Amino acid sequence: MVVDKQRIVTIDGPSGGGKSTVSRALAAKLHFTYLDTGAMYRAVAFQCRQKGIDPADDHRLGALLATFCIELLPPDPGEDDVRVLIDGQEVGNQLRTPEMGMLASRVSALPLVRQTLTRLQREIGAGGRIVAEGRDTGTVVFPKAAWKFFLDAGPEVRARRRAAQLRGKGEQVDERQLLAQIIQRDRDDRERSIAPLKAAPDALSIDSTGLAVEEVVRRMYDRILATPCCGRQ
Ligand code: DC
Repeated sequence: MVVDKQRIVTIDGPSGGGKSTVSRALAAKLHFTYLDTGAMYRAVAFQCRQKGIDPADDHRLGALLATFCIELLPPDPGEDDVRVLIDGQEVGNQLRTPEMGMLASRVSALPLVRQTLTRLQREIGAGGRIVAEGRDTGTVVFPKAAWKFFLDAGPEVRARRRAAQLRGKGEQVDERQLLAQIIQRDRDDRERSIAPLKAAPDALSIDSTGLAVEEVVRRMYDRILATPCCGRQ
């Protein structure tokens, strides 16, 4: 039997569940490219902020997206986040603030934004051999991915992890406010009508509460080795 699957790993889940760290580690182990789809939504949010565009203004948002030019490069040595270039200019840490996460969540509910970024993500993934992380990579962007995971953890644990990440970058963090933002953002991401955050029916769900990154990566890697991909790439 020929199974029409793509040689792609998808890792979806709410913020702070450990997706980025796990995805990067898994991509390195598999020699696949890491695709951070959240960075793309953050980049659109950032551009709206920079250019003073109200995301509800279809006309200006459409013009922005029509010429939207984004490049994702591997993180610098010792750094965690992918490097993001918009129109050839590196954006840096400004994408990673909690405020930009909230704005990204807002713009990500807009059909025009989703259509544009889903198309770009499929172009990037056309050759296979990627680990894509986000909210809808297994359900909408790459429904034929050979290996799908849904990574979750309790909100308090996720807020603590996110706070540690931000502190590591030298930022001041109000952990209670961060927890409230995480809960709000997850609710918005889960309840939106287009491409809501949810596990694909064929995804393996993993609760990372109390699990070390290495253990999560090991479980995923074992699952991948145990499920050969018979696809085209
Ligand atoms: O993963 P992140 O925190 O960088 O994502 C920021 C926001 O972008 C998230 O709250 C919802 C949106 N997003 C999305 O809607 N679909 C994706 N595949 C990835 C992110």
